[in-house]
Amino acid sequence: MATVLEIAARTLQIPTTMKAAAIDRFGPPDVLTVHTVPTPEPGPGEVLIAVYGAGVGVWDAEIRAGWWPKGKPTFPLVLGTDGAGLVVAKGTGVRRLAPGDRVWAYEFINPKGGFYAEFVAVNAEHAGLVPKRLDLLHAGAAAVTGLTALQGIDDHLEVESGETVLIYGASGAVGTLAVQFAKRRGARVIGAVRGRDAARLVKDLGAEATINVAKDEDYFEHLKTLAPHGLDAALVLAGGEATEECLALVNAGGRIAYPNGVEPAPRKRPGISVTAYDAEAGPQQWTNLARGVEDAKLDVPLAAVVPLARAAKAHERVERGHVLGRVVLRVRPGNG
Ligand SMILES: NC(=O)c1ccc[n+]([C@@H]2O[C@H](COP(=O)([O-])OP(=O)(O)OC[C@H]3O[C@@H](n4cnc5c(N)ncnc54)[C@H](OP(=O)(O)O)[C@@H]3O)[C@@H](O)[C@H]2O)c1
Repeated sequence: MATVLEIAARTLQIPTTMKAAAIDRFGPPDVLTVHTVPTPEPGPGEVLIAVYGAGVGVWDAEIRAGWWPKGKPTFPLVLGTDGAGLVVAKGTGVRRLAPGDRVWAYEFINPKGGFYAEFVAVNAEHAGLVPKRLDLLHAGAAAVTGLTALQGIDDHLEVESGETVLIYGASGAVGTLAVQFAKRRGARVIGAVRGRDAARLVKDLGAEATINVAKDEDYFEHLKTLAPHGLDAALVLAGGEATEECLALVNAGGRIAYPNGVEPAPRKRPGISVTAYDAEAGPQQWTNLARGVEDAKLDVPLAAVVPLARAAKAHERVERGHVLGRVVLRVRPGNG
């Protein structure tokens, strides 16, 4: 018997063209406008996803402004590295996923276009089933950030029960999820944030305590009081002088991890393992994330829900900073 979602996916017409937020040149937020572009076709090993929610990352704004890994992109360039939706078609050789599946996906530079679009075609290996707990809007806001947070806590820091763990940059898109993943492993989580609103959110998500690393705050003394025996591990999501000060409290034999992109990167420290990593998206990683979401009873804080047509506003928002949770684009009506 076909499920409601399978029927929805089959009856959802796949048009030959679609709406997408794209750029024709690099520049400020207003270069990001709605375009009508051909709907991508899923090739062998790929799935076509009808997108509901697309995450907006600080790196998307950097790409829009002119950062590109190598060579030149083809314009119009549809932005967006991650999101969630319904599988509506698949190419040859795809067995793990089928039309009607609720999936989230991550593809950093996708030659077939990004997630700020009604449809996206991605390598099926880079997509996974969304756990029941999340609708497709919230899943779209937590795909790459979920992978980054979970892999930081579980794979790179290997956080254990009873450990004292600092999440530096705890109120942002990755941090809000990392706090919850660390807590689910039984760690004592201390969140480093800026501002009372950020502190409140991070405490609500399960941190035992927060330190305010804003200027004029005595955060170092506060952290020493909260962690009298030092820190066992730290996940770093923002770099700088204050970060380095706090990391001085990581004990010998302790661990520090940060995703590439954190600038300045935490410096090496004798006797402490310092690991840089990139989020990885594969079948096992999606299974791990789905389990992590259920175990942590994960909440995905949304700092703003912005319609696709106003994608430029979403970029202005992430560029202003102090985003509590993640900004997400609503691509089609409803939360999926
Ligand atoms: N390589 C990968 O696979 C990968 C994947 C995901 C993310 N990343 C990187 O991971 C980092 C975090 O990503 P995100 O999406 O979580 O970003 P985000 O939402 O902007 O969060 C960054 C957090 O750090 C805080 N922060 C920024 N500058 C600070 C400073 N000078 N002092 C103290 N706190 C500061 C922010 O607080 P305020 O709100 O007060 O500014 C915010 O809470 C980024 O560098 C991103 O590029 C890499």
